[in-house]
Amino acid sequence: MRGSYLLCALLLSGCSWFTDFKQQPKIDPWETTADTVPFRGNPQSSVSIYGSAAPGFEYDRTPMPQTIATMANIPNPVPADSASVNRGRIQFQINCAVCHGPLGMANGPATKYGVAGIAIGAGSNAANSLTDGYIFGMIRNGRGLMPPYNRIEEPDRWDIVNYLRSIQGKGTIAADTSHGLPGETGAFVPGASRMGPTRPAPYLHPGARTEATGDTTNRTPSADTARKTPADSTRKPEHEL
Ligand code: HEC
Repeated sequence: MRGSYLLCALLLSGCSWFTDFKQQPKIDPWETTADTVPFRGNPQSSVSIYGSAAPGFEYDRTPMPQTIATMANIPNPVPADSASVNRGRIQFQINCAVCHGPLGMANGPATKYGVAGIAIGAGSNAANSLTDGYIFGMIRNGRGLMPPYNRIEEPDRWDIVNYLRSIQGKGTIAADTSHGLPGETGAFVPGASRMGPTRPAPYLHPGARTEATGDTTNRTPSADTARKTPADSTRKPEHEL
C-alpha cells in the first residue's frame, strides 16, 4: 500500500522517468545569439559558421594530385605569430611527427615499421619548393601514401604550415619542439573549435530584430559587422579579440 502511494507521488510530480536526446542543452531555432556563446568552447569539428579561405570553388576537380596543385596559390591568411606557431606545434606533434619526425627529418617512429620516411623539414623539397597553399592542400587531401588530415580544422591547418616554416628555419619564430607525454592534456592538446558558433551567425540580422522587438541582447558590435561582411575563418573569434 505504501509502495503505491510512492508510485503515485512519483507519477504526479512529473518527474521524468525516461530520458532521451530530445532533452539536452541545445540551441533551439530563434533563440537569441547569446545562446550561441557556449559556457566552454565548442569541441573540435563543430559545424562551422565561418566562411573559408579555401572554399570548394577555389580549386578545381582535376584528379589527385593536381587537385592539390590548384590549391597552391591560395595565400596563407594566418599571420605566423607566436600564438599560431604554438597551436601549429601542438597539431604537428599530434598528427605529423609520427611519420615525418619532430623536426620533419623523415625519422618519425612510424618509419621503423615500414612507413616511407619523407623529409619536410629544413632543406627539404617542402621547405624549398612547396607553397603554403600546397602544404595546406596536402593536409586537406593527403597524397599518394599520405592520408588526408581534413579532420584538422582549417585555421589549425594554416597554423601547422606556420609551424612547419619554423622548423624549416624559414619562419621568424624559432622552432620549439616541446611536447606532452602520453596522457598529458591541458596546454599540450588543441583547445575548443575556433570555427564553431562562438559568436553570432553571419546570416543573422540583429538590427532588424532589435528594432522589431526592442531586444538588445543581440546588439554586439561584431554582430553588426558580421551582417555586412560574412566572417571567414581568418577572423579571430570574439573571445580572442
Ligand atoms: C602516415 C604517415 C604520415 C603522416 C601522419 C603525415 N604524412 Fe606527410 N607524407 C607522408 C608520405 C608517405 C608522404 C609522401 C607522399 C607521396 O606518396 O607522394 C608525405 C608527404 C608530405 C608532404 C609533401 C612532401 C613533398 O616534398 O612533396 C608534405 C608537405 C607533408 N607530407 C606534410 C604533412 C603534414 C603537415 C602532416 C601532418 C598534418 C603530415 N604530412 C602527416 C606520410 C605522412
